Amino acid sequence: MPRRFCACVLCAVAAAVATLLMFAGPPSASAQPAKPVSFITDVAPILKENCLACHDSKKKSGKYDMTTFERILAGGSNGEPIVPGKPKDSDFHDLMVTDAQRRMPPRDKGEAVPKDKAAVIARWIAEGAKLDPGLDPKADLVKELRVRWQPPAPPKAYPFPAVVNALAFTPDGKQLVAGGHHELTVWEADTGKLVKRVRTRAERAYGLVFLPDGKLAVAGGRPGQEGDVRVYDLSASGKTEDGVTVLDGVNDKKVLVAHLFDVDDSVLCLAVSPDGKTLAAGGCDRAVRVFDLSGGVAKAKLVQTVENHADWVLGCALTDDGKYLVTAGRDKTAKVWDLKARESVVTFPEHQNIVYGVAVKADGSAGFSVGADKNIRTWKPGGEGKQVKSAGGHADEVFKVVSHPKQPMLATSSADKTVRLWNAADLTPGKSLAGLTDFVFAVAFSPDGDLVAGGAYDGSVSVWKVSDGSVVKSWNASPGFVAKEPEPKKK
Ligand code: HEC
Repeated sequence: MPRRFCACVLCAVAAAVATLLMFAGPPSASAQPAKPVSFITDVAPILKENCLACHDSKKKSGKYDMTTFERILAGGSNGEPIVPGKPKDSDFHDLMVTDAQRRMPPRDKGEAVPKDKAAVIARWIAEGAKLDPGLDPKADLVKELRVRWQPPAPPKAYPFPAVVNALAFTPDGKQLVAGGHHELTVWEADTGKLVKRVRTRAERAYGLVFLPDGKLAVAGGRPGQEGDVRVYDLSASGKTEDGVTVLDGVNDKKVLVAHLFDVDDSVLCLAVSPDGKTLAAGGCDRAVRVFDLSGGVAKAKLVQTVENHADWVLGCALTDDGKYLVTAGRDKTAKVWDLKARESVVTFPEHQNIVYGVAVKADGSAGFSVGADKNIRTWKPGGEGKQVKSAGGHADEVFKVVSHPKQPMLATSSADKTVRLWNAADLTPGKSLAGLTDFVFAVAFSPDGDLVAGGAYDGSVSVWKVSDGSVVKSWNASPGFVAKEPEPKKK
């Protein structure tokens, strides 16, 4: 198995960090700012990067919680670690630069804080260890940093391929929406022509679902930094650049029509009941948030936060009646949660490896799951969650499983670079759809069920006819990206 893909999202995280480094330029906390050091702009990012993993409100190593300015000054079991004006007498700084065995971060636990960053901390203490005017000393730093963060504009022409983590056909089935880098891109499904680009705050989109009113709900995030669910109106008007409509989903309220929530790490999966009344989204914080959308997205109400997995929630699905939530976990289980009774009803453990994706029969009579064990399994979502059948066919890990909108058919996507169709009734394998050139992270059926699309790690996208498996069109969903010609083979 290619080790390049360790645990789906983990790898995506590494790739995202790499792309972030390519694009973010120098970090906002410049080494030696000419102005007085700002706590929130210069100091807080250094603490977040180097200290908060152990000194957050959960771990509080040394009984020291560094999540707010007030708590940073108060210190831990040894009392106040900062003497304003005197960096040399401040443990807070001394522990970063000391040659002694006791250092922060502890020597066996991580690299020393880079010298230029430690110097920023020293200057901040020398200047009086002040808080920025207007900032509440009790404000949560991570949240403050998130609120202040401004997303970069997506690259006009991609110098690297955009990882396609999510795909969705538009309700008329004519266009395909793909997650790009800080944007969504919209393509003609039969020609692969780029028609629209929608700038987003999220670096990546992991889940795309059209609501019955035609608005697009998007789950996404910036790995390790933030995650969110936002709703966009792709029919809003915008500028035209080189024949492509460009919408601003960051600032234009006609484009970004709702913002359901945000959290400290990526939101990885999204499901909406067919009546559009129930929306569920889960991710790295192990929780699935369930919203009641009966009053419209603008009045979305958080009705439940389901914490049923011991690790990241990688996939989710809802039954048509919105009663059952089925989830896939990095904790190697698929689970069923009864949303009315608010209790866990089934844990399906048979994959014995990461479960990446789930689907459920509309009436709730069968659950389907796929994972790192390369298998697709079907099981009873009621009773004891008994396995009905397990089927192989993919040559590598399977990431997603989606239900056909009309027939008893499923489509799966895999690290073996294929999309595969299955008979949902008995899991007999149907056509294997080839043509993609990397791990296939995204798969979607068109609303009429005539087409199926797959999207891959290297930005490649293919659209096939469900009836005969023929390719309608393949292209790279990274605007302006020019793939390098393969090196000519030497004799
Ligand atoms: C990998 C975990 C880890 C990281 C990262 C870490 N610390 Fe610590 N820290 C600890 C532990 C464990 C203790 C308690 C043991 C000790 O005091 O040596 C501690 C204690 C401290 C104390 C003493 C608290 C008291 O009152 O006893 C200070 C001050 C401190 N850390 C500052 C920092 C700073 C500043 C950073 C970031 C540059 C940092 N730490 C990063 C684990 C960590």
